[in-house]
Amino acid sequence: MKKNINIAVVGLGQIGNYLLNELNAKKKDIELKTGKKIKVVAISAKNPNKKRKFKINKNIFYKNPLDIIKKNNTDILFEAIGSSDGMSKKIVELSLKNKIHVITPNKALIAKHGDYLSLLAEKYKVNLEFEASVAGGIPIIRTIKEGLATNKISKIYGILNGTCNYILSEMENTKDSFSNVLKKAQKLGYAEPGNPKLDLNGYDAFAKVRILSSLAFNKNISKHKCLVEGIENIDFKDINIANQFNFRIKLLGITELINNKLFERVHPCLVKKKILTLEMLTV
Ligand SMILES: NC(=O)c1ccc[n+]([C@@H]2O[C@H](COP(=O)([O-])OP(=O)(O)OC[C@H]3O[C@@H](n4cnc5c(N)ncnc54)[C@H](OP(=O)(O)O)[C@@H]3O)[C@@H](O)[C@H]2O)c1
Repeated sequence: MKKNINIAVVGLGQIGNYLLNELNAKKKDIELKTGKKIKVVAISAKNPNKKRKFKINKNIFYKNPLDIIKKNNTDILFEAIGSSDGMSKKIVELSLKNKIHVITPNKALIAKHGDYLSLLAEKYKVNLEFEASVAGGIPIIRTIKEGLATNKISKIYGILNGTCNYILSEMENTKDSFSNVLKKAQKLGYAEPGNPKLDLNGYDAFAKVRILSSLAFNKNISKHKCLVEGIENIDFKDINIANQFNFRIKLLGITELINNKLFERVHPCLVKKKILTLEMLTV
């Protein structure tokens, strides 16, 4: 079995950049635990001259990620560009077809093309791993796929978007308005500075719901239209009213089978204060 594992990291933003740093810092631990020596052989981002949080090795930098595949020395490619199509899809597709394992936290890509990409991975006998695409810190994907493989799941619901959760909690704690708390979240890096819309309008959580449904209910990723409502219209007065009745407002992603029919939705919900921790555990 191969002892040296060559890794390529495509996308050096929040995630790719931190991953590179972690791989570097934990190289020895990884070898100790897995017996594998890892080496980053290629990195790629859009702008080669951008100032990044951690130092990068310019000698292994590729402006075009597709050129990495031509080198033919990558075992695992980590995709962290983050779009549902375009270069994200191209590089993942090409990697799988060249028998390169792929790891991605890209829920937009998996929610749109997960079925097709999984079939490709199967066909070329490589892994397509996307644990970090949904609630990476829990982690839920492997638990559903492996730990709960023989269980019958009827419903999954939970808080699936950290940005919304921060904003709702902070509004409750500081009694401040949605717009002020959003500005604070952007300053702290919890919400995208340019366009936080995808987090706030519920569509980030919805992509995660679709991934969870397909895994939990053994179905293809659904294409139906669903109720998706974000938190943009919630203000402190709503939180205050909920509070008077001992509720909190949380953005929940919900997927369930009713009479063998799939119902998926994302919207703000009233959650009883005292059972909140229990509810969160059921994510
Ligand atoms: N941020 C989080 O907390 C978080 C958590 C869980 C999952 N995720 C997922 O992780 C993925 C990455 O998120 P992120 O926050 O790291 O995104 P990001 O900060 O926007 O980074 C995207 C990276 O992709 C690079 N890129 C764009 N187009 C490219 C191209 N054609 N070729 C090569 N590189 C290209 C960009 O290059 P430049 O740097 O040169 O512009 C940038 O480095 C997304 O799918 C996201 O949903 C993120």
